[in-house]
Amino acid sequence: MTTSWNPDSWRTKAISQVPAYPDPAALAAMERRLHGYPPLVFAGEARRLKSALALVADGRAFTLQGGACGEVFSDFTANSVRDTFRVLLQMAVVLTFGAAMPVVKIGRMAGQYAKPRSSDTETKDGRTLPSYRGDLINGAEFTPEARLPDPARMETGYFQSAGTLNLLRAFASGGYADLHGVHRWNLGFVARSPLADRYADLAQRIGETLAFMKACGITSDNSPQIRETDFYTSHEALLLPYEQALTRVDSTTGDWYACSAHLLWIGDRTRQPDGAHVEFLRGVKNPLGLKVGPSTTADDLLRNIDILNPEDDPGRLTLIVRMGADKVEKLFPPLLRAVKRSGRRVVWLCDPMHGNTVTAADGRKTRRFDAILDEVRRFFDVHAAEGTWAGGVHVEMTGADVTECVGGAHRLTEADLAQRYETFMDPRLNAEQSLELAFLVAEELKARRGDIVTAVAAQ
Ligand code: PEP
Ligand code: CO
Repeated sequence: MTTSWNPDSWRTKAISQVPAYPDPAALAAMERRLHGYPPLVFAGEARRLKSALALVADGRAFTLQGGACGEVFSDFTANSVRDTFRVLLQMAVVLTFGAAMPVVKIGRMAGQYAKPRSSDTETKDGRTLPSYRGDLINGAEFTPEARLPDPARMETGYFQSAGTLNLLRAFASGGYADLHGVHRWNLGFVARSPLADRYADLAQRIGETLAFMKACGITSDNSPQIRETDFYTSHEALLLPYEQALTRVDSTTGDWYACSAHLLWIGDRTRQPDGAHVEFLRGVKNPLGLKVGPSTTADDLLRNIDILNPEDDPGRLTLIVRMGADKVEKLFPPLLRAVKRSGRRVVWLCDPMHGNTVTAADGRKTRRFDAILDEVRRFFDVHAAEGTWAGGVHVEMTGADVTECVGGAHRLTEADLAQRYETFMDPRLNAEQSLELAFLVAEELKARRGDIVTAVAAQ
């Protein structure tokens, strides 16, 4: 662990979730090619996100991380990027009001193309093929050709990430995110939903506040905080040849940064302290995420914290807890206490998605809105009991009007799933369910605000 790090030191470690590329020479050629391409994000941006997350670690901000389970190449359109960005903005506004504090916005976007799988193969009608591992690696179609890992996909992933990022940057700073537009962010079908009035009411209050601020001389013209927003990108750092190829030395600090996204996280299946993924990520200075699942032990967690954040730099490490609504109260407190005792400064996020996936009667994977909300509430309760700060939520969602999760204001049932079930991976909250979740989380934050302030002040 204390041995020296370099961008390919991970290659000497045991690795899980690795695709079997049929042509290693083609893979190496693609790595060289990507290595020559410009970075997608810049070290200074990653440092800015780390500072924002340091505020969260200190109980002074809240985090919203969201996007698809996996992005797909075929859904690369301006509308799809805009719709997801817009719902994240809406959710963030709702949460900012509830928490009365800044909300750090991070998309699972512009690079979330590689997926871990529970099995290396998939069998259908007596035929066995390699599992689909995300568009960065192979195709979802159940044919031997599509399922063969193809390094050319990395280049497509790079360019689609660049195109997505370009739009996100334009939306975030080119006027779209101006708070004066809060009324216009409403999506057609949300406007017809039971939430429409609540959202319109919030937009109205923001409008009044902006009018008051304008009267005091604070406007979009003189205050970038009203005109623009900071929006960051993130994905699971799963495909290490791709990540290594996009790793660069920052010329101002001499430090290494992974330049494929601002924040990279380690998944629940690749978090072995002596494994390749932890080795790679310990050497880059980006803010990092680490999933904490039901099989995480306190020892492994503390070891990973030591390896990934040896200097206890606040904002460097975000722990993303994904236990399941029925397990979180039992499994999370011992881990939270162990970290608290160690005195290490981390951000705690609740991922209420991955522990709550169930199979519907028709065989589709789904999640119940109530279980998702339940896990968030219980996560908040555990923190309240320990006097620690629940730093945010991590959700799988989309701006589209899909039918993948059951429940929510429109009471989607299992029978409705077939209508617009579009995911190749995990089921996502649709725009309306996402906004509803934000309202409910905001209410929790508001109701607990007094307790939270006291708890954080006592730390
Ligand atoms: C994910 O975030 O899509 C994922 C695969 O999560 P986990 O690693 O927590 O299972
Ligand atoms: Co997922």
